Amino acid sequence: MNIQPQMIQVTYVSEKTSNSDKNLTSIFEISQKNNPEKSITGCLLIGSNSYLQLLEGPTLAVEELYAKIIKDSRHKNVKKLYDKVIEERLFSSWSMKFAPFENLDWSNKEFNSGNFLNIEPDGAENVFNSIKRIALG
Ligand SMILES: Cc1cc2nc3c(=O)[nH]c(=O)nc-3n(C[C@H](O)[C@H](O)[C@H](O)COP(=O)(O)O)c2cc1C
Repeated sequence: MNIQPQMIQVTYVSEKTSNSDKNLTSIFEISQKNNPEKSITGCLLIGSNSYLQLLEGPTLAVEELYAKIIKDSRHKNVKKLYDKVIEERLFSSWSMKFAPFENLDWSNKEFNSGNFLNIEPDGAENVFNSIKRIALG
């Protein structure tokens, strides 16, 4: 019998409302605390003007977290790029991997300025796949 709850992945892009490192530290700390308790994993890409985040885990937990995140005043214009049911996680080893765009060795240079605001769902998926490949070396 399969007793695993259904899992989903949600990806969104948003506009930063400030560039403060304090914001990043507090987001990092709260995600390290909350996400393991909710069995959520994922990746937060920190662009120059934007965030691109992938959340994954049990459906209800991810939906509840997403509902909280869209109300957060540290960003605005949150736009969901896709959500989908998944069998396997992409970032199973990270409660929330923080990926500053400067540190990424992009195979294509499209997002080198760190502006993700106009990214398409397919582009976002490629970005997260690249981050995973690079992170696992
Ligand atoms: C870009 C961004 C990403 C965030 N990612 C997470 C996350 O992965 N996990 C989390 O618990 N909160 C995250 N937050 C913070 C939530 O919006 C919210 O402040 C927090 O979950 C509240 O936690 P609490 O209910 O325990 O006080 C994020 C906020 C922003 C702006």
